[in-house]
Amino acid sequence: MRVLGIESSCDETAAAIVEDGRRVLADKVASQIPVHARYGGVVPELASRNHIIEILPIIQACLDEAQMTLDQIDGIGVAAGPGLVGSLLVGVEVAKALAYSINKPLVGVNHIEGHLMAPLLDYDGPEGISGTPQFPFVGLVVSGGHTHLYRVDGVGQYSVLGATRDDAAGEAFDKVAKMLGLPYPGGVYIDRAAKEGRKDAIRFPRALPQKTNFDFSFSGVKTSVLTHLKKLERPPEPHEQHFADICASFQEAVVEVLVNKTFRAARDQRVKDVVISGGVSANSRLRQRALQVATSNNINVHIPPLHLCTDNATMIAALAHHYLPPASPENAFTNFQLNASSRQAFGKITG
Ligand SMILES: Nc1ncnc2c1ncn2[C@@H]1O[C@H](COP(=O)(O)OP(=O)(O)OP(=O)(O)O)[C@@H](O)[C@H]1O
Ligand SMILES: [Mg+2]
Repeated sequence: MRVLGIESSCDETAAAIVEDGRRVLADKVASQIPVHARYGGVVPELASRNHIIEILPIIQACLDEAQMTLDQIDGIGVAAGPGLVGSLLVGVEVAKALAYSINKPLVGVNHIEGHLMAPLLDYDGPEGISGTPQFPFVGLVVSGGHTHLYRVDGVGQYSVLGATRDDAAGEAFDKVAKMLGLPYPGGVYIDRAAKEGRKDAIRFPRALPQKTNFDFSFSGVKTSVLTHLKKLERPPEPHEQHFADICASFQEAVVEVLVNKTFRAARDQRVKDVVISGGVSANSRLRQRALQVATSNNINVHIPPLHLCTDNATMIAALAHHYLPPASPENAFTNFQLNASSRQAFGKITG
């Protein structure tokens, strides 16, 4: 069973072909970062226009890489929400046209559910941390727009344990990076600068520390960095020690909360497996701390390799495999009324 996945929810145009929900035959991402960087954030209109330019060549490149023709695809999965509606629509309409032309089933899936289930993909190599997660597991999706903790009992069986009450962790990284004059998206630049800094140089606040609370809040730590910067005589320069110290101390405040709450939830739910995914799971300190805490708690942690942490279509194809026949025979017929939605529940997206 070979599924073509299509992803266009934000500023990455991506396509992938995944066999049997696990084996990646082709994976292509066209990033629009250079298009949006000069504006300091994603410009929705530019994103949609660029998806239109990129999407068909990206799909063709995947078919070429897998040495397949379109009619050898058994089904199509597309990210239909959440995200920027104009961007999502490009992927959804292209997916519908392709499904119609080859007369194969199409399902719309949830982008965040895709991030959550990305560790189910077969990946080797030193970058991804530890093999396939076993159900039930606790999953943290930590990305540009989400910081959500779930209990996952199987594909399609999720309960929300906690969520951010304000900024997503990735949003906080990007906003703090902007305050420091770093390029967009800033998470990776903070990660890099933090390597030279002292994580205990400044004690930034850790929100909602109560043991029974699995919600997050990152606006306080972000404001705290701003207050700290305002107190300085002049903005710190990237080559200065204090710049690296701010990055390392901010990063530590975010990572500590993410790791503590996730592993506390795992203990609370009595599960042996933890999944961490989404763009911020590319953070080197988060990966390091998660591995340390997992080892000391005798828990298996699963974090995808870096290219599967940020937006990609392999996670969409892998998830769609479970919502397409033969796994879900009831979805044999495509609903061509499928639409994009900025807000979306998990499961098969129908309208
Ligand atoms: N090494 C890193 N350290 C910290 N943050 C990072 C790192 N690499 C990427 N990020 C952050 O990940 C986010 C992008 O992740 P992703 O592409 O999953 O988000 P999104 O698709 O925009 O949001 P969502 O998935 O919630 O719709 C950005 O905020 C970016 O700064
Ligand atoms: Mg994403």
